[in-house]
Amino acid sequence: MILSVDRVHKSFAAPSGPIEILCGVDLHVKEGETVAIVGESGSGKSTLLSLLAGLDVPTRGSVCVDGADLASLSEVDLARFRARRLGIVFQQFHLMSGLTALENVSLPLELQNAPGALDRAREALDHVGLAKRADHLPSRLSGGECQRVAIARALVVEPALLLADEPSGSLDARTGEAIDRLLFELVERRGATLVLVTHSDRLAASCDRRLALVDGVLSADA
Ligand SMILES: Nc1ncnc2c1ncn2[C@@H]1O[C@H](COP(=O)(O)OP(=O)(O)O)[C@@H](O)[C@H]1O
Ligand SMILES: [Mg+2]
Repeated sequence: MILSVDRVHKSFAAPSGPIEILCGVDLHVKEGETVAIVGESGSGKSTLLSLLAGLDVPTRGSVCVDGADLASLSEVDLARFRARRLGIVFQQFHLMSGLTALENVSLPLELQNAPGALDRAREALDHVGLAKRADHLPSRLSGGECQRVAIARALVVEPALLLADEPSGSLDARTGEAIDRLLFELVERRGATLVLVTHSDRLAASCDRRLALVDGVLSADA
């Protein structure tokens, strides 16, 4: 299993006491599998993805990615693990505004002193159709183009696991569909493992498995 989530709980503090958002989530994903997670707004999908990404820690339970129990890693090792093994695409792109498209894509490689970072970043930008926009800052790119850059940045490290949280959620319908298609094409071409949060039935239907997060628990979606 590339991803093993076992009995994961997550609570947040609230004035009236802790609120449990995730109440025993189990999820096991094989290498090369594509899994869609659907669920109502506020059901905890982004919370779950942030636990899978090691950006937050479960209240109880364990998350193992590519054989590593995230809770057993030091901050430094976790950051390194994230940079090398995970690709993450967020709804709001999260590009560095002061860096060009090319610099955004090469950054994860530069941070790990990977050889040929700029060449690999150029190639990744080419794969998302943005070779000609390499020197543009995000402010000079459209939303769809920014998300293409973010997808290139996520895939440039050839991650063991790609996480995507509503990747087309902030784009208009047509641009969003193009982004969804591109993401799937790249995932399929690489045989990458994908865990995708989406509101799109069409996108979810493209995945090998479709799970619903309801009342803090994941189960097969009817
Ligand atoms: N850091 C946090 N502190 C307190 N509550 C949070 C925090 N993050 C998320 N929540 C709450 O957890 C619930 C689930 O949020 P989220 O995971 O963003 O849902 P979804 O992505 O499914 O829309 C929401 O009620 C949200 O307000
Ligand atoms: Mg969300």
